[in-house]
Amino acid sequence: MAITGVILIGFVIGHLVGNLQVFQDPDHLNGYAAFLHHLGPLLWVARIGLLLAVVIHIWAATVLTLENHAAREVKYGVKHTIQATLSSRLMRWTGVVVLAFLLYHLAHFTLGFVQVATFKENLQLYTMSGDYRVAGFPVVKAGAEVLDVRTMVILGFQQPVVALFYLVAVGLLSLHLLHGFDSLFQTLGWRSEKWARALRAIVIVFCAAYFFLNATIPASVLLGRLKVAEPVHPAAQR
Ligand code: HEM
Repeated sequence: MAITGVILIGFVIGHLVGNLQVFQDPDHLNGYAAFLHHLGPLLWVARIGLLLAVVIHIWAATVLTLENHAAREVKYGVKHTIQATLSSRLMRWTGVVVLAFLLYHLAHFTLGFVQVATFKENLQLYTMSGDYRVAGFPVVKAGAEVLDVRTMVILGFQQPVVALFYLVAVGLLSLHLLHGFDSLFQTLGWRSEKWARALRAIVIVFCAAYFFLNATIPASVLLGRLKVAEPVHPAAQR
């Protein structure tokens, strides 16, 4: 669970950093998405690796739960929670909701099975106005026609129900990470009595920041702070 957890945490952090480019001009998020799509076979290696990590993570969680149940055939007569935190007790539920969110999210933004009419009517190819660079290299060139992922995200979150679902889902994911990180440090043997408090504080700050930064995207669209960019008229560019 710990190894797959590290892989998935790495992905969600990277994904968040990439997504925050939505606050910059459209060249950023659209160039970034085009760069990922151009990776071809490498993208598929990453996708298959991620899928395997998710499957193994769920399998390990199921085995652990079954072992826990098997260890106590007769249920407790009285159950008082003394030590366990809320996030640890909700682990299975937050995990299930995050999985449901992930399936919806893939159908929404990767496969385009949700808001089909909205996307069909409003999405056109986007022409890059400058180069998109990675480590100084122009990986997507000015003038390239790419998918308008930024507009897709904004149109998606203009539906209040969709935006609220994302807010709830990233909230539950952050709660899931809160206990996930604690367990991870325990598994790695880093959570000594001396470090327990400091590690807990770091994890809380990290998860709060993760939630806040993710939430800013749907929240900014809902509040009208993040809007679809007006197409720049060629004459205005000169
Ligand atoms: C506000 C939050 C989020 C936004 C705006 C967002 C945006 C996007 C977009 C635009 C794509 C499609 C990229 C493309 O095909 O060009 C995508 C794909 C994806 N997202 Fe998110 N995402 C968010 C949160 C999350 C979270 C919390 C998770 C994990 C639980 C996640 C997991 C994924 C995965 C696995 C993919 C598929 C990547 C692929 O194509 O292989 N996303 N996301």
